[in-house]
Amino acid sequence: MPLAGISDTQPLGEPRRAQGGSPMDRVLLLCRAGFEGELAAEVQARAAALDLPGFCRARAGEARVEWCPAPGADAAAAVARFAREVPLGELVFARQLLCALPVRGGLSPEDRAGPLLEDFQRAGLPVDGLLVETPDVDGLKPLAALCRKFAPIFERALGRAGLWRPGQAEHRAHLVFLSTVAAQPAWAWLANSSPWPGGIPRLRMPRDIASRSARKLEEALVTFLGPEERAARLREGMRAVDLGAAPGGWSQLLARRGLLVTAVDNGPLEAAVLAEGLVEHRRADGFRFQPEEPVDWLVCDMVEQPGRVAHLVARWLAAGWCRECVFNLKLPMKRRQAEVERCRALIAAALDAAGVPHALAFKQLYHDREEVTGYLRRVAP
Ligand SMILES: C[S@@+](CC[C@H](N)C(=O)[O-])C[C@H]1O[C@@H](n2cnc3c(N)ncnc32)[C@H](O)[C@@H]1O
Repeated sequence: MPLAGISDTQPLGEPRRAQGGSPMDRVLLLCRAGFEGELAAEVQARAAALDLPGFCRARAGEARVEWCPAPGADAAAAVARFAREVPLGELVFARQLLCALPVRGGLSPEDRAGPLLEDFQRAGLPVDGLLVETPDVDGLKPLAALCRKFAPIFERALGRAGLWRPGQAEHRAHLVFLSTVAAQPAWAWLANSSPWPGGIPRLRMPRDIASRSARKLEEALVTFLGPEERAARLREGMRAVDLGAAPGGWSQLLARRGLLVTAVDNGPLEAAVLAEGLVEHRRADGFRFQPEEPVDWLVCDMVEQPGRVAHLVARWLAAGWCRECVFNLKLPMKRRQAEVERCRALIAAALDAAGVPHALAFKQLYHDREEVTGYLRRVAP
């Protein structure tokens, strides 16, 4: 069923080539299934801000959105401009951003590579890498084995075609399989895309962490900070406060990096978390708790109204109680994207009024369900 407000006048597989050099005529974005409408709203707003007329096509539950330039426009130029000028990091609901061709249907199991390779040869773009993937939809999970098997076959095909140029290309090839007989050829601009299949970071998590929720914090740190920033800004001896800490996974993760953590929750922490030695439990209300002295990090995973949490993190930063912050916003059932933007504006207004220069980003992480994760920090004036 087409989503309300999203036009769906062309079937997904219909060929529609751009004029001139590059044949890529659409932007393809991947997201969590069920959030296509939120992503489409963001994409339309960003395209409008660039003065790029076009429309989104998406179907609820397909975990993908296409943005197509308006008929009559120079589609390839518009697509390239969108892919370069809209940072993936600024799209809350997008996991991946690609320049794409229409879906290739009717692929024969005997020779899937042939027709797909023709598309890559026509585009003629050298590539540094290949990801063969599917949108994150339960029904497509059985295609994982096909993707794994097909990747080396297609990599060799790209090599024979002279398009495989590791270290010397600005793009990565993508094949997004939608069934055993249909795949969408696409290209990621390396500088503005996720290096992970499906845009989902692979995390290396210790097995004995107290909560599944800890994966959310680890993914947030990997998403919002580069490896060097993580090493520099999460160091032994630094201090953190964890609001809504029980059973203790987030606190434990920070403690494993050597931080001293004050874990605030009226509920009990797991004994194993406390036994590790760097976590101190305070039974208190997270909205009333104040640190005795400023800390480096605030993390907050309280299940509360998003506006209340947004006010809280802005207050901590404005008061100088922390330097940076990772927090989770549980989204309402409706107007989810509008709620994120309301919280963004609320935090920015509070910190601007307090004269605190800051950086703020939101992302719906793979481990976020009906939620998004925020990252906020003070920056130099
Ligand atoms: C999703 S759990 C946190 C899980 C935790 N991040 C972990 O990794 O183990 C949310 C927690 O927030 C706590 N919470 C909710 N409201 C709170 C408040 N006002 N003050 C303190 N804790 C609160 C709940 O008791 C609950 O333990």
